[in-house]
Amino acid sequence: MATVNAAASGDFMIGGDLRVTRLGFGAMRITGKGIWNQPADPAEAKRTLAALPDLGIDLIDTADSYGPYVSEDLIAEVLSPYKNITIATKGGLTRQGPDIWKPVGRPEYLRQCVMMSLRRLKLERIDLWQLHRIDAKVPAEEQFGEIAAMQKEGLIRHVGLSEVSVAEIEAASKHFPVTTVQNRYNLVDRKSEDVLDYCEKHGIGFIPWAPLSGGSLARTGSALTEIAGKLNTGPSQVALAWVLKRSPVMIPIPGTGSADHLRENVAGASIELTDREFGALDAQGREAWRAQAH
Ligand SMILES: NC(=O)c1ccc[n+]([C@@H]2O[C@H](COP(=O)([O-])OP(=O)(O)OC[C@H]3O[C@@H](n4cnc5c(N)ncnc54)[C@H](OP(=O)(O)O)[C@@H]3O)[C@@H](O)[C@H]2O)c1
Repeated sequence: MATVNAAASGDFMIGGDLRVTRLGFGAMRITGKGIWNQPADPAEAKRTLAALPDLGIDLIDTADSYGPYVSEDLIAEVLSPYKNITIATKGGLTRQGPDIWKPVGRPEYLRQCVMMSLRRLKLERIDLWQLHRIDAKVPAEEQFGEIAAMQKEGLIRHVGLSEVSVAEIEAASKHFPVTTVQNRYNLVDRKSEDVLDYCEKHGIGFIPWAPLSGGSLARTGSALTEIAGKLNTGPSQVALAWVLKRSPVMIPIPGTGSADHLRENVAGASIELTDREFGALDAQGREAWRAQAH
């Protein structure tokens, strides 16, 4: 049987000096329903985390707000002291209950986020800290200025942004180098094509969240299901292979709380789509996106 290893997805250098394997892991799904409280099956969540190193995954995406705190605590419990693992966490979103997320970008709160993530993750410096959302109620320069200060103090190595436009990346770049951008992106969600192109041009890592979705294409007769059938795999894995082939700056972080699903997703990294298959998926994905956007 072929080895299942994320190394097949290749590497990306975050900020020019932090090497990660392109296929990462999203640790939002190791929490409870509504991304709130403990997971339904904590033992399975821990098994999933423990399986990452053997599967060649060395980038874990999390956030203080996942649980809240549950995801970061579990990562530290299972994997610290870390061996060749990059933890990318986020701050700036507060939680008032399941499925409720509210941005708070006041500088003193952003600093609290970083200080508390350091404690929970048992780290002295966060390799990649991402502003989860820019808070529209606080001047953006105040948020960016505090992040730049924390980077200068050595609390943060590299900075990323999440759910931003090209103009916002350019505004933030006046304060610190933007090394990654995490926006929702998949075969059938193409609203961030311009941001992806900008990232590719400037060597910024693009971390697509919800990368597994094939949306309405996961139906019989679509290019997605036909290719999945031919390759004897699932539509989600083919959607993931498409995302990986879309750009060399793409760093997908599929999320799961199941060790079996994790393995299936890592197998997706080994799927090599032909240019023809890629093109057929691309065309149908864009069409589905246009149909749902208008
Ligand atoms: N920046 C942001 O604002 C933002 C927002 C949302 C998410 N994120 C990050 O992005 C990551 C990925 O996003 P996501 O988790 O929403 O979407 P996703 O990775 O596209 O899909 C996750 C969903 O698919 C299921 N799944 C995963 N692998 C599967 C498999 N092999 N077979 C069947 N079902 C499977 C998971 O359930 P099971 O647990 O049952 O496998 C889960 O419900 C998150 O974990 C988080 O780190 C960031």
